[in-house]
Amino acid sequence: MHERILIVDFGSQYTQLIARRVREHDVFSEVVPAQVAHEHLGEDLRGVILSGGPASAYLEGAPDMDASVLDAGVPILGICYGMQWMCESLGGKVVPGESREFGFTEMTVDDDTGFFGGINPETVVWMSHGDRVAELPAGFRRLAHSADCPEAAVGDPDRGFYGLQFHPEVAHTPEGVAMLENFLKKVAGCEGDWTPGDLADELVRQAEEQIGNDGEVVLGLSGGVDSSVVGAILQKAIGRRCHAIFVDNGLLRAGERDLVEVKYREHFDLDLTVVDAGERFLSKLAGVTDPETKRKIIGHEFIEVFREQAQRFERAHFLGQGTLYPDVIESVAAHGGATEVIKSHHNVGGLPDDLEMELVEPLRLLFKDEVRVLGSCLGVPDELTQRQPFPGPGLAVRCVGECTPARIELLRQADLIVREEFENRGEHEGVWQYFAVLTGAQSVGVMGDQRTYEEAVAIRAVQSSDGMTADWVYPSRDCLQAISNRIINQVRGINRVVLDITSKPPGTIEWE
Ligand code: XMP
Repeated sequence: MHERILIVDFGSQYTQLIARRVREHDVFSEVVPAQVAHEHLGEDLRGVILSGGPASAYLEGAPDMDASVLDAGVPILGICYGMQWMCESLGGKVVPGESREFGFTEMTVDDDTGFFGGINPETVVWMSHGDRVAELPAGFRRLAHSADCPEAAVGDPDRGFYGLQFHPEVAHTPEGVAMLENFLKKVAGCEGDWTPGDLADELVRQAEEQIGNDGEVVLGLSGGVDSSVVGAILQKAIGRRCHAIFVDNGLLRAGERDLVEVKYREHFDLDLTVVDAGERFLSKLAGVTDPETKRKIIGHEFIEVFREQAQRFERAHFLGQGTLYPDVIESVAAHGGATEVIKSHHNVGGLPDDLEMELVEPLRLLFKDEVRVLGSCLGVPDELTQRQPFPGPGLAVRCVGECTPARIELLRQADLIVREEFENRGEHEGVWQYFAVLTGAQSVGVMGDQRTYEEAVAIRAVQSSDGMTADWVYPSRDCLQAISNRIINQVRGINRVVLDITSKPPGTIEWE
C-alpha cells in the first residue's frame, strides 16, 4: 500500500496541476469531487489538499464537503477557496475583499517554520482571488501577508492545518514547489514511495481492467510521443488485441510515414496497419479556410477511418487515443463551463455522440513531460519519447488558408528545412517545438531581375514545459540565415521568410 494524498476538487482549473506537483515528489494522490471526499479517507491517507474554485465560501450553495474530512487526523492544506472553505467550516469568517488581487504579488513570510521552512522571507506568489479570510478559526494564526491581503497564509501548525490565499501549484509562484514539498514531506511525513514505474504499472492495470479479457482496441497511432506511450501501455495490457492504425492523411511531415513504419515494427509488437487516406482528407478540406472547420473535418474523418478499421475486428469496441490533460482542458469546458474552449483538439473535440466505441485514454490526466518519463519506464526508445510534439490535424493547422495539395507540399518542404537546420546545429536541444508555418500572406519579391509574387513562411520555435504556456525562441543568426536561404532557393513558391516572436499567451503555439 502506498502513502496517499487526497486532493479535493472544488472546481479549480488547477486541480490536475496540484496532482502533478504531488507526483513530482513521488507521492501518490487521488483527485475526488468535494461531495464524496469523506468516502475516501483511510489508513493510507497522509494528508488532504483542498483545491481552489470559482465560488464564494459565504454564499448559499457554495461547494461543500462533509466536515468529517477535517477530523480525519491528517494534515490539511487549503488553497484559495479550499482555505476559505476550511476557515468558514472551523468557525472563521470569509468576506469579499476590498480589492481583488490577480497575478504576481510580493509576500512576506511571518513564520518560517514548518510549511515555510527554507522559504525566502520576502517571496513572490501568484494570487487570483476576490474574497479573503477576515476572522481566523480558533487555533489559527497568520503565517504570511501581502500588502492587500493580511492573511495571505494562515495555519494551525499543531494540527497541521494550513491555508493559502495564493496558488503554490502554478509555475508563477517560484517557491511553490518547495512549499508543497514542505507540506508533503515535513508536515504530512510522506517519504515519497510512488515512482513513475508505479504509475506505469497502475495505468497498465487500469487498461486491463477497462478492456477485459477479450476486448480489442483500435489505437490511433500518430507517430508522436503520446500515442507511442499508449501503444506501449496497451501492448503490456492486452498484447496483440491492440490494433494500431496509422493514418496517412496527406497532412504529415516529410519522412513521417516511413519513420513510423520502420520504428514501430522495430520496437513494438503491435498489429500495425497503415491507411492511405491522403486524397480522402484533402478532398474534404477543399475550399475550407476556417480553422475550427478544418479541425472538425479532420477530427471527423479520423473517426470515420477508425470506425471502418474497427469493422475488421469482432470485438474492437474500444478506441485508444493519446489524449493528454492540456488537450482536455483546452477543448472541453471543464467543471461545468468555467473554462473557455480555445481549440477543438482533434482527439477530444471532434468525437461524434454516436461513436459507439468506448475511449481508452490512459494519459488523460498527465502532462507531456510526465508522459516522456513514463515512456522511458515502459521501454519506449528515446527517439520516440523525445520527439517534438506534432498536432493531430497535422500540417493543416500550420497552413493558413486552403489546404491544397500544392500548398501542403510547399509547407512540407519548408518544414523539413527548418527541422534539419535546427537539428544539424544542435539548436533543437531543449526547444519544445520548431517548425514552419505557411502564413497565407503573399508578397512581392525580386529574383534574378524578375518580379515574384509568392507565399511567405514563418519560422515558429517555442520553449515550453507542457504546451499550456510558451515563450518564443531566438535561433542563432547562422541558423536563421541558412533556413532563409535554403527555403527561398529550394522551395519554389516561397519568396519570404519571417520569424514569429509571439509567446503563449497571447498567441497559441500552432497558428490555427
Ligand atoms: P496550441 O496551438 O493550442 O498548442 O498552443 C499546444 C500544444 O498542443 C499541440 N496541439 C495539438 N495536439 N491535437 C494534438 O494532439 C491537436 O489538435 C492539437 N492542436 C495543438 C501543439 O502542437 C502544441 O504542442
